[in-house]
Amino acid sequence: MTLVQEPPQRAIEQVRDTAGVLEGELAWGRSYAVVSPDHFRVDYVINPFMDPADQPEPERTREQWHAMLAALRDAGARVDVLRQRPDSPDMVYAMNLGIALTLADGREAFLASHMRYAERRSETTSAASWATSRGRVLLGVGRDGVGPHLEAGDLFAWRGDLVAGFGPRTEEAALAPVAAALDVRVRGLRIVHPAMYHLDLAFCPLDDRRAMVCPAAFDDASAAALLDLVPEPLVLTEEEALTFCANAVVVGRTVLMPACPPRVRDQLESWGFRVVLLDLSELHKGGGSVRCLTNPTDLVVGRDLDVVPGGEVVLP
Ligand code: ARG
Repeated sequence: MTLVQEPPQRAIEQVRDTAGVLEGELAWGRSYAVVSPDHFRVDYVINPFMDPADQPEPERTREQWHAMLAALRDAGARVDVLRQRPDSPDMVYAMNLGIALTLADGREAFLASHMRYAERRSETTSAASWATSRGRVLLGVGRDGVGPHLEAGDLFAWRGDLVAGFGPRTEEAALAPVAAALDVRVRGLRIVHPAMYHLDLAFCPLDDRRAMVCPAAFDDASAAALLDLVPEPLVLTEEEALTFCANAVVVGRTVLMPACPPRVRDQLESWGFRVVLLDLSELHKGGGSVRCLTNPTDLVVGRDLDVVPGGEVVLP
């Protein structure tokens, strides 16, 4: 009798490294800080989506936000929940608080944002206490309106570089101090689209070769530079990007998205991603979606970002 040989496990599975990351997957994005929407309101207008006449309904907001939390955990992510300050209605958009990362010398750090609009600056105070309570050293490029603006929704680690959108929120003058503070290479891209005012509305790394990219968000030189950086881009039209589909969170092969145009879904699925759709309609009233609502806390300089002593800025 011939024994039917099972194929050896290693041949059918991909190789997992010690952190349980499959080859090719993003190594970061397994743990997040989020802010519970206890005081989410639209009190002012700082982006084209906000309308104080259209307030979020608190109960639906909570349900949608908790469903997002459950989906993150189902996908295998760890989540640290911060309380929202009553005086900071936009604080639910946790991505903008700053970026948490392990520096080249092994220290855990938090680079705080310096928000463009004064209405959001109080959020940073709470973010800083959260970060220090987690043993992180605090870094920053400005505060209270003094120094260049930096909003972390403009920052992504991608193939060794810190890709940084600038224009509507982050200022070009912030790029050099960020590069120097973190000892990394910062690649600046000029955003010109008023509705894609943060990089995370127009760019979303999927794995180590693929990313969603909406060229319409950038000036010509920056759009070309971004497409050059991505070996296999999923190019989004302006209309597709305005569904907030690029404002997605990727945990391994799972993509959590608020919307997914059919063409985008086909491409993601043919690449082996599983799409999880989330209804975040109440939270869209402030102008952001799942990526804005979550802040990855597991970036590592030396793994996700190349170590460049003293830092370096590259512009198109
Ligand atoms: N109302 C917030 C603002 O305009 C929305 C932030 C969206 N966050 C993001 N990472 N894109 O600042």
